[in-house]
Amino acid sequence: MTPDSATPVALVTGGSQGLGLALTRALAASGWRVVVDARHSDVLDAAVRGLAGVTAVAGDVADPGHRAELAAAVAALGRLDLLVHNASSLGPSPLPTLATHPVDELERIYAVNVLAPLALTQLLLDELRATHGTLITVSSDAAVEAYPGWGGYGSSKAALDQLAAVLAAEHPDLHVYAVDPGDMNTAMHQRAFPGEDISDRPDPQTVVPALLRLVRQELPSGRHRAADLLTAVTA
Ligand SMILES: NC(=O)c1ccc[n+]([C@@H]2O[C@H](COP(=O)([O-])OP(=O)(O)OC[C@H]3O[C@@H](n4cnc5c(N)ncnc54)[C@H](OP(=O)(O)O)[C@@H]3O)[C@@H](O)[C@H]2O)c1
Repeated sequence: MTPDSATPVALVTGGSQGLGLALTRALAASGWRVVVDARHSDVLDAAVRGLAGVTAVAGDVADPGHRAELAAAVAALGRLDLLVHNASSLGPSPLPTLATHPVDELERIYAVNVLAPLALTQLLLDELRATHGTLITVSSDAAVEAYPGWGGYGSSKAALDQLAAVLAAEHPDLHVYAVDPGDMNTAMHQRAFPGEDISDRPDPQTVVPALLRLVRQELPSGRHRAADLLTAVTA
């Protein structure tokens, strides 16, 4: 299919590996045009090489200049149907307790996981509203469960969940979802469990059908667990 102005456009942050790359591959295979980012440009370029309709913009979502570059890449494509805040910072590894969590590391977690998604949403809200589009923030069970060691990252995801909930209330013309993907066999998960064999965790592409249900706007705005969405897919 030759892309034209009617071809849907997505921006997926953190698209060089893990869940973001799996979703990007699925969207590209369905004919979407996709803008992706990641900090390591060599890894990003290698990951999306050969994927039709994918534009790679290397940078850090916490950097305002990079966010402006992402917005410009979307503007060049003429529309925005889907914005996925997937890029995320886990913080120190091994995970520290809150009693010892370095506050500067906490500031970095919040900059990447909370402030950057909101700032990027602010930049792109008009384009997303023009298509009655979909906003997905990638959450975690650590946002709602109190696991020792997960207080920094988990509280940032709780804040991100609340941003999504309020954005949904403020913009009923949009579909706004927070989604908990569940454990996945990825680099981030390995950093959370250093030295452990995590090969029993599901591959991130197994979560993509759950995200695609949200992309199709099958559900009302709100917080969803991928496991529940997948159960409905296979039931
Ligand atoms: N894996 C799990 O078990 C699990 C469980 C619950 C929730 N989640 C959530 O699922 C999402 C995806 O996680 P994942 O496990 O797929 O992670 P991953 O495999 O480690 O991939 C993370 C992606 O984000 C990029 N990234 C990280 N920090 C960035 C930044 N500051 N700016 C731009 N890009 C950045 C990474 O590339 P660079 O390093 O090159 O920047 C990479 O492309 C995250 O929101 C995570 O919190 C994961």
